[in-house]
Amino acid sequence: MRTLGADEVVDYRTQDVGDTVRDVDAVLDGIGGPTWARSLRTLRRGGTLVSILPFDDTFPVRRAEELGVRAVFMLVEPDRQGLREISALIEDGRLRVIVDTVFPLEQAAQAHALGEKGRTTGKIVLTVDSAPGRP
Ligand SMILES: NC(=O)c1ccc[n+]([C@@H]2O[C@H](COP(=O)([O-])OP(=O)(O)OC[C@H]3O[C@@H](n4cnc5c(N)ncnc54)[C@H](OP(=O)(O)O)[C@@H]3O)[C@@H](O)[C@H]2O)c1
Repeated sequence: MRTLGADEVVDYRTQDVGDTVRDVDAVLDGIGGPTWARSLRTLRRGGTLVSILPFDDTFPVRRAEELGVRAVFMLVEPDRQGLREISALIEDGRLRVIVDTVFPLEQAAQAHALGEKGRTTGKIVLTVDSAPGRP
């Protein structure tokens, strides 16, 4: 995380981020479940939790209200212009992409199985070969 530019790093295996981080403006939560409550505790009043996991019954709605924070779910959408801007950031060296594993499309099931383990570092990529004779 430090090589990607993080100033402070909390190792979730040995520390509870809810005990060590305070008064942040926004949290991006990519884990969900028990992590939501920990993420909420790091926020300042008026701060925002952005979850990329859909909220379910385990989300502590009342606690979020008591703490005076907002919680929103974000779902990735096809966005050509956004992808162009991201490509430019990569080309400028301002954004670095970490790839964990590359699979051909035919092995999509294995790619899903790997992702479901929750242990990958970076993206899992599927490659699509152009069919012969097609542009
Ligand atoms: N809403 C959307 O648009 C959207 C888009 C993409 C993905 N998703 C979903 O978001 C989730 C996250 O995806 P992902 O690509 O980041 O892959 P992931 O495989 O779920 O995340 C793996 C990473 O999470 C770390 N990790 C595991 N448990 C943790 C915990 N309790 N606290 C903190 N970090 C922990 C792992 O670290 P270690 O290896 O060190 O344990 C690893 O670096 C998935 O469920 C995915 O389906 C949603």
